[in-house]
Amino acid sequence: MKPPPPPLFYLLFLLSATVISAATTLNATKPTTPKTPASSPTPAPTSSPTSPTTKAPPSSSPLDPKQIEALQSLNIPTTRDPCVQPSPRNATICDNSKPLRHLISLHLSNCSSDLFLSFNALKSLSSLRSLSFTNCHVSPIRFPSDLSLSLTSFSCIQSLRRLSGVWLSRFVNLTDLTVSYTPVSASGVYVILGNMHKLKTLTISHANLTGSLPRHLHLNLSHIDLSDNKLKGKITTSLTLLQDLEFLNLSSNGLNGEIPTEFGDLISLKNLSLASNSLSGSIPDSMSAIPGLVHVDLSNNQLNGTVPRFLAELKGLKVLNLENNGLHGVLPFNASFIKRLAVFKVGGNSNLCYNHSVLSSKLKLGVARCDKHGLPVSPPPSKESSADSQSDSSDYNDEGDTSNKKESHHGPSKVVLGFAIGISSIVFLIVFLILLAKWCR
Ligand SMILES: *[C@@H]1O[C@H](CO)[C@@H](O)[C@H](O)[C@H]1NC(C)=O
Ligand SMILES: *[C@@H]1O[C@H](CO)[C@@H](O)[C@H](O)[C@H]1NC(C)=O
Ligand SMILES: *[C@@H]1O[C@H](CO)[C@@H](O)[C@H](O)[C@H]1NC(C)=O
Ligand SMILES: *[C@@H]1O[C@H](CO)[C@@H](O)[C@H](O)[C@H]1NC(C)=O
Ligand SMILES: *[C@@H]1O[C@H](CO)[C@@H](O)[C@H](O)[C@H]1NC(C)=O
Ligand SMILES: *[C@@H]1O[C@H](CO)[C@@H](O)[C@H](O)[C@H]1NC(C)=O
Ligand SMILES: *[C@@H]1O[C@H](CO)[C@@H](O)[C@H](O)[C@H]1NC(C)=O
Ligand SMILES: *[C@@H]1O[C@H](CO)[C@@H](O)[C@H](O)[C@H]1NC(C)=O
Ligand SMILES: *[C@@H]1O[C@H](CO)[C@@H](O)[C@H](O)[C@H]1NC(C)=O
Ligand SMILES: *[C@@H]1O[C@H](CO)[C@@H](O)[C@H](O)[C@H]1NC(C)=O
Ligand SMILES: *[C@@H]1O[C@H](CO)[C@@H](O)[C@H](O)[C@H]1NC(C)=O
Repeated sequence: MKPPPPPLFYLLFLLSATVISAATTLNATKPTTPKTPASSPTPAPTSSPTSPTTKAPPSSSPLDPKQIEALQSLNIPTTRDPCVQPSPRNATICDNSKPLRHLISLHLSNCSSDLFLSFNALKSLSSLRSLSFTNCHVSPIRFPSDLSLSLTSFSCIQSLRRLSGVWLSRFVNLTDLTVSYTPVSASGVYVILGNMHKLKTLTISHANLTGSLPRHLHLNLSHIDLSDNKLKGKITTSLTLLQDLEFLNLSSNGLNGEIPTEFGDLISLKNLSLASNSLSGSIPDSMSAIPGLVHVDLSNNQLNGTVPRFLAELKGLKVLNLENNGLHGVLPFNASFIKRLAVFKVGGNSNLCYNHSVLSSKLKLGVARCDKHGLPVSPPPSKESSADSQSDSSDYNDEGDTSNKKESHHGPSKVVLGFAIGISSIVFLIVFLILLAKWCR
């Protein structure tokens, strides 16, 4: 059997080659706009030096000389006008007042160890609305009251060595307060917040703050992060009055008692973590009234009761972590719900189990299968390996496409591919040898 269509093959090959070359030449000639900047970088640099926009700022008024002096005392470079944006290290922002401009924002970061905050320098900076310290281990000093009253935003991240609640409480006009990785000594959160009637965003985290949650909170708060402190006591019902609250993180404290049944009054809540406390009781059903929950972390507590079914109805939910609690009963979720989530954790609840005819063991939920009474099949860890291989095939019919773990899919397919390549090359070799033998004869 000789191959009769070689001319046809050549023809086809030629045809496709001309089509491809035509397409590429068309592409090469046509895209004038996207290709020219990449291939010829000349137009961009030539246009920017010729434009005189960089000369514009000097026409605006200069920064108050007293503030220039204050910046110099804080080791902020002033050889260039600190009001021109972006300022060196993004440290300064000015207003547009005349005849002299004033600073409205100052960010001190990575301060040298010999930096000293002087009262006089701070006094001349009383125009500031926003002041932040990041990694500045200077000693805190008493702030001039003009500055304390002027600030609407104060941030201290791993800076100022240690702060007292009374010191912070003087910033009565703050809308944003952030203290993180800096120890704060106060006999309770109320000492700090007592007079801050405009506060919207509160973060005091990793600060070893002691005491309890305040009995009164300002109603306009939308963000509260008091995570990783030493707060004790119950979650107060004052919290549940905050109808604008979108973010609440009370994780890693010593809170105990039950989650208040009024918790569902937090109708704006999106992100919630009460993880790593000593909370007990059940997950309140009232939470089903919070439509916008995105992130729910209640892990590492002593919560009991069943896993509420309403969690499956939360359309925006992305993260659900209930691990290491005392929850029991049958998981009320199906595979499509679990696959929709970015994070789903329920392990470490020894009396929780999943319905084998609803969920595949391939989901690796970290809980045992239920028996027909809805109780976990007795020893979860020892059964895992045998139950796994056994149920994989039997589960296949109810949820064949539950392979949310890509690794498990990847491993076998690689092996199969290698095997196929091996087999086909052997077959090819044999055919080749036979043909060779025939031809040689
Ligand atoms: C033609 O150019 C477009 C975009 O510039 C590209 O997406 C496409 O792959 C090119 N086609 C060929 C045949 O090179
Ligand atoms: C300055 O701040 C702007 C906006 O926040 C940011 O895009 C830019 O990267 C910052 N520049 C420096 C040097 O930090
Ligand atoms: C401060 O130091 C850290 C770590 O050395 C660095 O990543 C950061 O960019 C520095 N920030 C500024 C504003 O220089
Ligand atoms: C800050 O609050 C005080 C009283 O609490 C008020 O007199 C003052 O005008 C406020 N300052 C600013 C800049 O808002
Ligand atoms: C909190 O206290 C612990 C020890 O009690 C200490 O190791 C840790 O550094 C403290 N945190 C801060 C931010 O000071
Ligand atoms: C709370 O916020 C609302 C609307 O955002 C505003 O009208 C009200 O004045 C604020 N209340 C206080 C005490 O700041
Ligand atoms: C809560 O705070 C902890 C510690 O600061 C952090 O690890 C966690 O991601 C936060 N959770 C949420 C929901 O923001
Ligand atoms: C759940 O915990 C609460 C509070 O600790 C307790 O009163 C209740 O009896 C527990 N319920 C179950 C079913 O274990
Ligand atoms: C809220 O949670 C979502 C999902 O985990 C996350 O993407 C988002 O950044 C969180 N928002 C805040 C303010 O932390
Ligand atoms: C999974 O559960 C959700 C919520 O209960 C429901 O809306 C959805 O129809 C269920 N999907 C399947 C495939 O059963
Ligand atoms: C498991 O699900 C099946 C089908 O939905 C149902 O018939 C059975 O009662 C469930 N078993 C348990 C223990 O809930």
